[in-house]
Amino acid sequence: MKKKSGLQAKISFRLKNLSTLGKYVFAEMAGAKRKALNSGIEVIDLSAGNPDLSPPKEVVEALKREADNPENHRHPIYEGMIELKSAIADWFYRRFNVRLDPKEEVLILIGSKEGLAHLPLAFLNPQDFALVPDPAYPVYKRGVIMSGGKVYELPLLKENGWLPDLDRINRKVLDRTKLFFLNYPNNPTGALAPKEFLEKVARFAKKNKLILCNDMAYSEITFDGEKSFSLLEIPGAKECTLEFHSFSKTYSMTGWRLGFVVGNKKLIRVLKEFKTNLDSGVFHVIQKAAIVALSLHPQVIASICRKYQNRRDILVPGLKSLGWEIDLPRGGIFVWAKIPRRKSSKRVSLELLRKTGVLTTPGSGLGSCGEGYLRFSLTVPGEKIKEALENMKNFKGIWVRETDP
Ligand SMILES: Cc1ncc(COP(=O)(O)O)c(C=O)c1O
Repeated sequence: MKKKSGLQAKISFRLKNLSTLGKYVFAEMAGAKRKALNSGIEVIDLSAGNPDLSPPKEVVEALKREADNPENHRHPIYEGMIELKSAIADWFYRRFNVRLDPKEEVLILIGSKEGLAHLPLAFLNPQDFALVPDPAYPVYKRGVIMSGGKVYELPLLKENGWLPDLDRINRKVLDRTKLFFLNYPNNPTGALAPKEFLEKVARFAKKNKLILCNDMAYSEITFDGEKSFSLLEIPGAKECTLEFHSFSKTYSMTGWRLGFVVGNKKLIRVLKEFKTNLDSGVFHVIQKAAIVALSLHPQVIASICRKYQNRRDILVPGLKSLGWEIDLPRGGIFVWAKIPRRKSSKRVSLELLRKTGVLTTPGSGLGSCGEGYLRFSLTVPGEKIKEALENMKNFKGIWVRETDP
């Protein structure tokens, strides 16, 4: 057979499949931000979920200290240091009252994105289905598509409390489904999942022989005294669950790239086998500093939540007074705001950036059910949020003009 020439012929189906989805929304908005900055616009970035708070000082001090130890600069242990895995198991018991075997039920990740994106490659064959919420963090869908699998979207709607309706899932699809992605506290809607819903999900997964991939990146960022639940708190759920956690949001260690997955030991073993062939673990200096993070007093986390809550309590009433429709977020670091008129979220987002310097994420970039919404992140100080609202006040025409498409 004659080999085709040109770059396109060399690119694998994995990336080609992705091109049907358009660009990764956050990369696209980062490009729009660069352009705006180059043209002299002062940008207030409420787009990416990139915490602006500093990591706790004890953790940074540990990082510096551990960097002085030459032993920590050697090749990392693939699955993560047992000291960190034990600290995670202890934290999990304190936080969720769930016991984990640090050796077999905990695996260290290079950020939870890495684990979530690789998971479908480890478990899906071409044409296998994964259930993916819509709107959602784009990595679930993209990981499935790159693996050659198929996505069955589960709309998250306001009238269902932003929870997927399990009773509406197509039976024939279910027979071909292996993975079920969930994420609460939810990005982008700010919803929490009640325990009864998690119980229902666990029963559903067992009945339909699914692997539950529960993304808890925002597990600790909750408001008004509420707490999130782990799926592993549900008796028997460990049989079919992998739960992903992150140091990025709770401790603002986003650039450090550290996360972990806990759950069923057989499933963990598969992911570990896959990763061992692909990466070489996380710098030990970072893992040792993370042990310090897990030992911090719960008050440290409570104070971080208060900061985000204060910002929420500026942004939400401010946007409401401008006519936007919003459910008060109960967790996470985002405000999911319905555009007052039916307009393309991408158009509104780009126009807002050009005219007011306020950078948001268009809901359509997070799934088709996100159309009509913008996601505002709470990752700038309150004063900046007030400035963003003030700028927006002068350009209401962007979202109320009568020339709507
Ligand atoms: C819902 C959700 N899950 C996972 C991640 C990835 O976090 P990290 O890879 O930094 O652990 C993010 C980051 O924005 C997210 O919003």
